[in-house]
Amino acid sequence: MQRKLILGNWKMHGSTESNAALLAAIRERMSRENTNVDVGVCVPAIFVEQARSALQGSAVAWGVQDVSAHVQGAFTGEISAAMVAGFQATFAIVGHSERRANHGETALVVGEKARQALVAGLVPVVCVGETLAEREAGATDAVVRAQLAAVLEAISVDDAKKIVIAYEPVWAIGTGRSASVDEAQATHAGLRSVLREYDAGLDKLRILYGGSIKPDNASALLDCDGIDGGLIGGASLKSADFISIIEAAASLHADDSLHVG
Ligand code: 13P
Repeated sequence: MQRKLILGNWKMHGSTESNAALLAAIRERMSRENTNVDVGVCVPAIFVEQARSALQGSAVAWGVQDVSAHVQGAFTGEISAAMVAGFQATFAIVGHSERRANHGETALVVGEKARQALVAGLVPVVCVGETLAEREAGATDAVVRAQLAAVLEAISVDDAKKIVIAYEPVWAIGTGRSASVDEAQATHAGLRSVLREYDAGLDKLRILYGGSIKPDNASALLDCDGIDGGLIGGASLKSADFISIIEAAASLHADDSLHVG
């Protein structure tokens, strides 16, 4: 089983005060024994310097939730991948369904964001996922395959080896209703076959699951060969919950180390 990656997506939550306690607790957990797991937090960009100063020198990586599709220029309010990389960040989430839905991000834009993240030396965490209507119409596989293919088309095969994928069914995000292990595994298998068709060297990419992962369902979801970790929203904001998910991942037998951060 591949070593798991547990990533927090804080979304638009946090304050300098609450972050300090949360970051210190995660850092403290990862300074102890049984750290057979990779861990990171994707914070609002305004807090990336706080994350850097709280986490540098620790086993916890940090990153952001979006980067611009552009290199630089007259793009008021946007933040480039190179700016983020200047804070020694590791990860940049791209294509989260909340950005696709609320900010009109197309598959092409998501591909360009992934490309810009890679150029800057960041690891893009490429989110894909179907809506409930798409699942009910039997379109899950086609939707996520197309979302992933658009990103693979925007980047080179060598760069594709550096990405992380996160399968996040839209209907499972923030709803308390996680995908079942079977549903997640089936979709991950479809994504894995897209990767294999693209290049045999992509077989080892990590495919995370995200959507209502909590301490009580983390072990079942993570204890599966095709699920290489979790992208955690709400439960990443409470140190006890996030640490309990880290414990669930660390207690699994992993034989393949892919350190990040
Ligand atoms: P929840 O864990 O709150 O469902 O959010 C998942 C998510 O969107 C992570 O990117």
